[in-house]
Amino acid sequence: MNITFLLNGETVELAGADATTTLLDWLREERGLKGTKEGCNEGDCGACTVMVSDENGSRALNACILFLPQLNGKSLRTVEGIAAPDGRLHPVQQAMIDDHGSQCGFCTPGFIVSMATAHRNGARDFDDQLAGNLCRCTGYAPIIRAARSAADQPIPDWIADAPVTATANRFMPDSSDALAKLYEANPDATLVAGATDVGLWVTKGLRDIESVIFLAGCSDLKQVSVSDETVRFGAMADMNTVRAAIADLHPSYAEMIRRYGSVQVRNAATIGGNIANGSPIGDNPPALIALGATLHLRKGDQRRDLPLEDFFLDYGKQDRQPGEFVEAVSFSRQADRLKCYKISKRFDQDISAVCGCFNITVSGGVVSEARIAFGGMAGIPKRATAVENALIGKPWSEDTVSAAFSGFDEDFAPLSDMRASSSYRLETARALLSRYFAEDQGVATSVLEVQP
Ligand SMILES: Cc1cc2nc3c(=O)[nH]c(=O)nc-3n(C[C@H](O)[C@H](O)[C@H](O)COP(=O)(O)OP(=O)(O)OC[C@H]3O[C@@H](n4cnc5c(N)ncnc54)[C@H](O)[C@@H]3O)c2cc1C
Ligand code: FES
Ligand code: FES
Repeated sequence: MNITFLLNGETVELAGADATTTLLDWLREERGLKGTKEGCNEGDCGACTVMVSDENGSRALNACILFLPQLNGKSLRTVEGIAAPDGRLHPVQQAMIDDHGSQCGFCTPGFIVSMATAHRNGARDFDDQLAGNLCRCTGYAPIIRAARSAADQPIPDWIADAPVTATANRFMPDSSDALAKLYEANPDATLVAGATDVGLWVTKGLRDIESVIFLAGCSDLKQVSVSDETVRFGAMADMNTVRAAIADLHPSYAEMIRRYGSVQVRNAATIGGNIANGSPIGDNPPALIALGATLHLRKGDQRRDLPLEDFFLDYGKQDRQPGEFVEAVSFSRQADRLKCYKISKRFDQDISAVCGCFNITVSGGVVSEARIAFGGMAGIPKRATAVENALIGKPWSEDTVSAAFSGFDEDFAPLSDMRASSSYRLETARALLSRYFAEDQGVATSVLEVQP
């Protein structure tokens, strides 16, 4: 593929770039830019963080799971491009020195780039901004202190980059219409959206992917619309965009997404990829199923809609034809009764062991509607229909909730794996229903509400 981007202010034109070479490998091996570190090579540690900018702003991304063609038309800053060309330090670099934010220094370039990106964006939620950067020796207090003390310094002018024009490529369609035509003609191609899954197939699975179609140029697929009736996410809406769009409508869903990977992962991962990969532990599907979402699929000029829960047929099997892609997902505007509970071993930046999403409507003290969906409880994201049926039409009470517990045994036979045992998962699912009920009665249950 032929691609054009700015690297630390200089134009780079690559002819015949390999579609699945990662930016990290290219920077270190082809350009000798070794400031960008390789830690985990799977998006977990942030040592490889780079700043990527375009007309929509600047984002921190993990270079280890970013393929070179995803940079087409973007401006890239590595840690080598954070200080001024004449050597003057960026305010976050000076603050890291002043506040003793570095010891062995391995993590430091990644932190510097994440901090410079947050600084450029005026973001001050530093715990979230830096949750995707792991430090094993300094400790986070001095690093957060440094981020805070740099926050009020002006953005250095050298960080601004001129816009750059993307090079046209056959396998980088610029609209969903072009994608539909191309994918129908090449149904064996692998679609790449944010590459937070596909990247790992290459870096960890060592897979050779023959034919790739990149969706990043399909700007119409990034659209999010919220009308009086409907909320609709284009498949290429990334997790930070989804989080912002639902923050007022369904705050519990937005809070769950705050714990989805890290800033770097959320900046790349798309809602379409999170659905299409069919993962039983993806965080969006249970929330969307609980909201009664509809999936919009397209193949060539043909479109079809189906309830999202019907898309997941079996482990690794979805109702998707060759050449068909996810165009969007939508759900009706509704009163907010949704609570999403993500249970994971680590609070930040971890995959769910169990993700339970509850949307229960009560009218006149009686349960009139219930949509409950779980991730991590079966080979697919799945509704708890027996539990729902045990609730609907009953008084909304502790007795009803306890009586519904046995429904979980009918609905689920979860696996034991490294994240949790089968019995833990079932017990947790029951506890989450109790938690939903307790919160609905005004009982505070979140440990996050305990403030120092
Ligand atoms: C460090 C890390 C942390 C993570 N944390 C979480 C987490 O907390 N919660 C969670 O749910 N997931 C998590 N994930 C998993 C991953 O981020 C998600 O599954 C993500 O949403 C996938 O989206 P993507 O755009 O990156 O997909 P890609 O990797 O680009 O694609 C994934 C799959 O979907 C297909 N695909 C993509 N878009 C479409 C489309 N429009 N139509 C049809 N097929 C399509 C691709 O061909 C591929 O098979 C994490 C991943 C990493 C690396
Ligand atoms: S090397 Fe760990 S996130 Fe990239
Ligand atoms: S300074 Fe050593 S890992 Fe952070």
